Amino acid sequence: MQSGLFISFEGIDGAGKSSHIEALAQAFKAAGRAVVQTREPGGTPLAEKLRDMVLHDPMDPLCEALLVFAARRDHLNHVIEPALARGDVVLCDRFTDATFAYQGAGRGFRLDVLAQLEQWVQALPSGTVRQPDITVWFALDPAIAAERLSAARLPDRFESQPLAFFQSVHNGYAARAASDPKRFAQLDASASIEHVRQDLLAQLRQRQVLP
Ligand code: TYD
Repeated sequence: MQSGLFISFEGIDGAGKSSHIEALAQAFKAAGRAVVQTREPGGTPLAEKLRDMVLHDPMDPLCEALLVFAARRDHLNHVIEPALARGDVVLCDRFTDATFAYQGAGRGFRLDVLAQLEQWVQALPSGTVRQPDITVWFALDPAIAAERLSAARLPDRFESQPLAFFQSVHNGYAARAASDPKRFAQLDASASIEHVRQDLLAQLRQRQVLP
């Protein structure tokens, strides 16, 4: 049996990751892999309820952090770990790097507390901590992302934040990428959709996860 593959997708709101996740799912299926497409916060009935609260109800950054990690725990238990155990490819729209970027860098919440929660929530029976095998980071200048978003739907609690918030979130992602460069596949999300798609496929082929 093939071993499972866990890929997360990150970037500030407006970086355009959704269409690429869909295309990548097709590429993995064409290569004969079973694919589970999921998202955070969310991915289970309980985690989707928590998502709704995090995106719409006023709360402080500690509440946000606790709810996204609670959602993550349920998602790992019921979706991600079983899929990886079956040997599937898990494509997850956001994971823990988003918590470090949004609650940590964006809201200014304590990174040491987030790191402790990460250790608890993502602990595996083997004693290691579950992390994505690859994290695709759609890196984009926050000013360009804001322009793209202004044409979009009704903003949630994060999308309605000022440009400075997204600059901090962007810096948060850059710090996470710098601390684990092997895991991160960085894309220039200001390029055309086709160019980003080709770059994404090339980087995954280079890592020998796609033929
Ligand atoms: P997003 O993934 O952009 O979904 P959609 O495209 O449907 O808006 O929205 C999720 C939001 O949740 C996004 O603004 C980032 C935020 N978020 C956090 O603040 N912390 C987290 O840990 C995660 C996973 C997401």
